[in-house]
Amino acid sequence: MGVRIPMLLLVWLLVLVVLGEPGSPEESRTSGLKNTTSIRLLSMPCGHRNEIRSLIVGGTESVRGRWPWQASLRLRKSHHCGGSLLSHRWVLTAAHCFGKFLDPAKWTVQLGQLTSKPSLWDRKAYSDRYRVKDIIINSENTKKFHDLALLRLASSVTYSKYIQPICVRSSTSTVQRQPSCWVTGWGVLQEDLKPLPPPYHLREVQVTVLNNSRCYELFRRVFFHLFISSDVFCAGAEDGSADTCRGDSGGPLVCNMDGLWYQIGVVSWGVGCGRPSLPGVYTNVTRHYNWIESTMTLSGAVRRELAPPLLFLTLHWARWLLRPT
Ligand code: ARG
Repeated sequence: MGVRIPMLLLVWLLVLVVLGEPGSPEESRTSGLKNTTSIRLLSMPCGHRNEIRSLIVGGTESVRGRWPWQASLRLRKSHHCGGSLLSHRWVLTAAHCFGKFLDPAKWTVQLGQLTSKPSLWDRKAYSDRYRVKDIIINSENTKKFHDLALLRLASSVTYSKYIQPICVRSSTSTVQRQPSCWVTGWGVLQEDLKPLPPPYHLREVQVTVLNNSRCYELFRRVFFHLFISSDVFCAGAEDGSADTCRGDSGGPLVCNMDGLWYQIGVVSWGVGCGRPSLPGVYTNVTRHYNWIESTMTLSGAVRRELAPPLLFLTLHWARWLLRPT
């Protein structure tokens, strides 16, 4: 009788030590791509999609599986913001999506679906929803707000044809030679908040990434004091024909480079939507690679750090329990 509780505790400790945390963060991997030897990626495989042929302002309806990392962040079950899947456990989004709603229990993440409002009978859509365990708002710099947040999911995401992670890379250059870049989301279609019509399908639009001095010049005509730092970048179309809008926030701006898809931006803000010469502003993901990597690694590594002392305790205890009497 007396030994039962210590025995239960011993078994529990052993399970903790042996299993560690399920779905512990993926280690950073070095990309095997040609000429990019120094690029560190958060997870591999990432950035692959099935080649499916097929405001957002000025975009077109997408096809299921074309953007398999796209997430719908749901506040009390309805779509509130976009997001992107980085690994089995982590979703990247914008910090401003949370406002005063910082309780993870109020949020879920929907993956692998084309619609932001699945019908009540679509059981698959509901099984592709994940609970949120932690909301981690970027706090690299207490004096400066970076519109970036990471969500740690409560369970591990199963990848499929429709659910895949996006690559994020550490290289400092934003974009080389204008690759093809796209933004996706379930946001409204126009500045006057024209809503997305049923069946509420994800939309996509190709955008041009502007260099920061050009962006600064454009915004300065309207807001003299506004400074566009390299923590953000601008994208859209100078004639206003391609932009994001309310509800797209937190979603990914991705570019195809050497055949893989990389996320370089997170939808952050704009002045109205789709206005000529006022492009959308995106958080520069590449600039925040270190924060993303260390958050994903450290938050999952707590148990790993605990593992050696726990193992020591367990073994010590086992020796004491099993000592010859
Ligand atoms: N802040 C908006 C949101 O919460 C995104 C706005 C993007 N605006 C733009 N013109 N690009 O959904």
